[in-house]
Amino acid sequence: MGTGKGYGKTILFGEHFVVYGLPAIASALSSYTSADLQIEDGKGWEVIDNRPATPGYKEKKYDEAMQSIKNVIEFTNIDVGCQKLKITFSGDLIAASGVGASAAQATSLARAINDTFTLMLSDEKINEAAYEGEKAYHGTPSGIDNTASTYGGLIWFEKNLNGGKNKIEMVKSGNKIPLIIANTGITASTAEVVVDVRKLKEANPLKFEKIFSDYHNLAIDAKIALLEGDMKTIGRLMTENHKLLQQITVSAEVNDKLVDLAIKNGALGAKLTGTGRGGLVIALAESEEIQRNIADIIEKEGFEVWKTMIG
Ligand code: MEV
Repeated sequence: MGTGKGYGKTILFGEHFVVYGLPAIASALSSYTSADLQIEDGKGWEVIDNRPATPGYKEKKYDEAMQSIKNVIEFTNIDVGCQKLKITFSGDLIAASGVGASAAQATSLARAINDTFTLMLSDEKINEAAYEGEKAYHGTPSGIDNTASTYGGLIWFEKNLNGGKNKIEMVKSGNKIPLIIANTGITASTAEVVVDVRKLKEANPLKFEKIFSDYHNLAIDAKIALLEGDMKTIGRLMTENHKLLQQITVSAEVNDKLVDLAIKNGALGAKLTGTGRGGLVIALAESEEIQRNIADIIEKEGFEVWKTMIG
């Protein structure tokens, strides 16, 4: 028997752009998914999914989750022909679009297998195993979610489009950053949204060239602002990032509504995070008091809200 954890994540800057090799900045969350593994007589594997979840999420993602689990098991070369793996997922990370739930699940399973069979896998290998799991959710993941889930902390991430090692840099933020995370309650398909963006990009190369260039400059400014703990600039850049995400059509009305609500009520900036078209919105507060206030207002509008500190 063994156990493993995978942390949730939030993308502060650069979802979707990161798929095309542009830099993104993500932070792991303190909430995690855990996997407990028992070896039983029989063959194959059995999954008990006790994770808390947005209604409909587990049903919508069921096939992808099963394929992801298969991919992770195959990556680790565990023989399931003469033994059965009983896998129980739990933890305090809410399985929802935008929080890195799929990556957290794959990472927790890789770590639980590593623990159970004493494979002595390095974090790099755990990350590779989790990346294989992520491929089940969409064919071309950037790898940012599993990287944040595996290593934790605040990271600058650049996907190597030639298949070599991705650039992963830990960023030390100058300040602890109070974030509000609001759940639209809508589960989006990452695969579908990523494909839509690709089609749009192919149909509008010049428009995308300009958006990508604007985003690239924004990411560089965001890193400097994070290092300096310049909260006002971080917030402003988050809102600008949201506008670029609107331009590539990954925001939905409900995302825009939550962004506006947070800003109107004192957030320094806000944006969708993750896949978009529903999923989650993050907002930056200058203090814990403002964070509480914004969270209460969003909750009163009927949305699930979490408060967290990153950096
Ligand atoms: C999903 O959390 C983030 C996306 O950029 C996809 C990816 O990076 O693989 C939309």
